[in-house]
Amino acid sequence: MADIDIDALAREARADLEAATTVADLDAAKIRHLGKNGPIVLLLRDIKDLPPEQRGPVGKGGNVARKELEALAASRHEALASAELDRRLIEDAIDVSLPPRAMPQGTLHLLTQTRRLLEDIFLGMGYDVIDAPEVENEWYGFTALNTPVGHPARNPTDTFYIAGHDQGAGANDDALILRTQTSTAQLRAMQLTKPPLYVVHPGRVYRRDDIDATHSDMFHQMEALAIDEGLTLANLKGTIESFLHRLFGDDLQVRLRTHFFPFTEPSVEADVQCFSCGGTGDPSADDRASGDFDRCRVCRGEGWIEIMGAGMVDPNVLGAVDGYDADTVSGFAFGIGIDRVAMLRHGFPDLRMLFQNDLRFVRQFAGRP
Ligand code: PHE
Repeated sequence: MADIDIDALAREARADLEAATTVADLDAAKIRHLGKNGPIVLLLRDIKDLPPEQRGPVGKGGNVARKELEALAASRHEALASAELDRRLIEDAIDVSLPPRAMPQGTLHLLTQTRRLLEDIFLGMGYDVIDAPEVENEWYGFTALNTPVGHPARNPTDTFYIAGHDQGAGANDDALILRTQTSTAQLRAMQLTKPPLYVVHPGRVYRRDDIDATHSDMFHQMEALAIDEGLTLANLKGTIESFLHRLFGDDLQVRLRTHFFPFTEPSVEADVQCFSCGGTGDPSADDRASGDFDRCRVCRGEGWIEIMGAGMVDPNVLGAVDGYDADTVSGFAFGIGIDRVAMLRHGFPDLRMLFQNDLRFVRQFAGRP
C-alpha cells in the first residue's frame, strides 16, 4: 500500500467543510468526509488490512483528524444555522404596525378663552380676579344692592328662587336664589377686603328668560369693581376706555349714556364704536357682495355697539359693609356679558351655539380667543 497521507485527506475535508455556505452544503460535506464512506472513516474501518507497522500511526492520525473534523463540522453547523435563522427572522417578518392616527386634542371652549382674555386685560391693569357663589341669598342678590322689595327683578317670574321666597312679596333676606347678575360679588369682595379694592369677577348668572338667539336662562358676565379714595366718573370712563380699546381696537370711541341701575348712582351704559364698520354703519365689502346686507352686520347700521352697564357705586351699597364709608371712599363698577363679547368678536348669530357643544362649532375656535 502506498503512503497514506492523512494530512492531505484532512486538509481537503477541512476546506470542504469551511467552504459550505449553507447548512445543506455542510451536511453534504459531512457525509462526504465523515459519513461511512468518508476516506478517513474507511481507513480507520479497514485498518486491520494495513501492514502492521502502519496500523499505529494511521489509527492515531486518523482518529485525531476525525475528531478535529467533527469539531469543525459542529462549530460550522452552529454558525450557519444561526445565520440562517437570523436571515429568516428578517425575511419572514410581517409588519403588523398600523398607520399612525393623531390623538384627538382638546381645546379650551370659546367661552373659557374669552373669559381668560378679559381677565388678562384686568390683571394687566392691576385688578385681582375673585370668585363668588352662584347661589346667593336675597340680601346679597338684591337688598344690599339697593334693590327694593317690589322691584320686578325680585319677582319669581324673573328670578329662579331655590328656597324661602316670601309669597307675600315681602323681603326674606335668607331666601336662596340663583343670582341674576355678577354684581352680587360686589358685596362679597367688600366684605373680604378693606379698600382700596380693585377686583373683577367672571361667572354664571341665571334669569327666567325665554331662550332665543340672544337670550338664555344661563349666561356669563364679568363684574369689575374699584373702590378707593377719590374715584370719580372720569376714572370710570378712563378704565372702560382702556379696557374696550384692548378688547376691540385702540382707535374706537367710547360713549356713556345715562341709564339706571339700583346699585349705582349715576348709572350709565357704555357704547363702543363698531369695530367692524368703524362707526359708519356700512356693510363690509364681503357682506355687501353677498347681497344679503345693506348695513353693517355687527352694529346693524348703528355705528355703535351697546356693550356694558356701569356706574358709581351707590353710597347705600358702600354703607351695607363695615369698613366702607361713603364719606372717605368712592367707587365704580361695571358689568359685561362674556357670551356677548364672544358673539361680537366672532360674528356668530346665535347665543345657543355656545352651549350646544356641537364639535363643528367648538373646533373652530381652537386657540383663538
Ligand atoms: N349688573 C348689571 C346688569 O346685569 C350691570 C352693571 C354692573 C351695572 C355694574 C352697573 C354696575 O345689567
